[in-house]
Amino acid sequence: MKIAVCPGSFDPVTYGHLDIITRACDIFDRVYVAVLTNPAKSALFTPDERVEMLSTATRHLDAVICERFDGLVVEYARLRGAIAIVRGLRAVTDFEFELKMASMNHHLDKEVETVFMMTSNEYSFLSSSAVKEVASLGGNVSAWVPSCVAEALTRKYSHAREAEIS
Ligand code: PNS
Repeated sequence: MKIAVCPGSFDPVTYGHLDIITRACDIFDRVYVAVLTNPAKSALFTPDERVEMLSTATRHLDAVICERFDGLVVEYARLRGAIAIVRGLRAVTDFEFELKMASMNHHLDKEVETVFMMTSNEYSFLSSSAVKEVASLGGNVSAWVPSCVAEALTRKYSHAREAEIS
């Protein structure tokens, strides 16, 4: 059984992430999608909220299991018996960060390979932060995220606006 891990912040999951997760399922028998901490980012959604949205968005994919993990991605990969860490690459701008991360992970555990997949062209501009920016200003994000995520964003930002008013 070939097992892979798709790690990320997923704050929140977009169709760009789902494109990579879906294609990873064509290559691997089981794909663990893991919400991990990126210390460089401050999150809008809690890890549990992110896992819930991921689980809803991937429920049609039998090979996928979504969960959170507080620790190193290589530690998580080892725990789940994964042979690969799958990451999506959108553009050259992603490359420097991804190369650094893949090299660190390779140094930490030589048994786990990082596999890069090019994001489909239609999602090459898409990022969770752009989606949050548009949603926070009342824009329509339904072309970029599943409906459960669009609804969660509307709820989050309407609560934030109510808190600002009161
Ligand atoms: O979606 P992101 O923010 O690009 O994902 C980055 C993430 C969460 C995969 C990365 O920050 C990570 O692996 N965090 C866990 C801690 C870890 O293993 N760090 C070592 C890699 S440099």
